[in-house]
Amino acid sequence: MAQNKEHLIPYLTKEEIEDLVAGLAEEIESDYQGKELILICVLKGSILFISDLMRKINLSQKVDFVSLKTFVNDEGNTITSIVKDITTQITGKHVLIIEEIIDAGRKLSFLKNRLLASAPASLKVVTLLDKPARRVINIKPDYVGKTIEDRYVVGYGLDDGEIGRNYGDIFFLKN
Ligand code: IMP
Ligand code: MG
Repeated sequence: MAQNKEHLIPYLTKEEIEDLVAGLAEEIESDYQGKELILICVLKGSILFISDLMRKINLSQKVDFVSLKTFVNDEGNTITSIVKDITTQITGKHVLIIEEIIDAGRKLSFLKNRLLASAPASLKVVTLLDKPARRVINIKPDYVGKTIEDRYVVGYGLDDGEIGRNYGDIFFLKN
């Protein structure tokens, strides 16, 4: 559903987002000194975050993209599957998953298991926003920009029915 600007409540300005991204990049850069990183962008929500983050991480790096879908099957079970897999060889490499937000944790848990099967040298997760109150699967990101309460946000890659990904700021949706 498209939303009018009057349905949006300001949450993070682009300057605040830039500060969060810079802080994360600094931490990551210092933790991976002398190593090559493989950044894995989870489509589509992480596109703006990864494009800013990767430019601030001054390390040798490669980037790849994965697309996942989650749906409820006829038996009522929530299933996650791969729509587009990575094509980069990650065995023995230092891999960092880039998420814009972690909610129930299903997508991340599925992706971690999928990537661990390829035996990377290390596997960590960075998320711009973390909503731990919504967690269904017990999973913790290694780097968190900001922990948020259980409210729906749009902007900076995050969508509401595919709308809002292009907003520079992040907003709460007014109920
Ligand atoms: P989960 O952690 O398996 O629930 O999946 C998280 C995914 O749900 C994210 O990658 C987003 O695509 C979507 N999502 C969760 N919370 C929000 C939100 O507040 N705004 C926009 N998308 C969200
Ligand atoms: Mg989404």
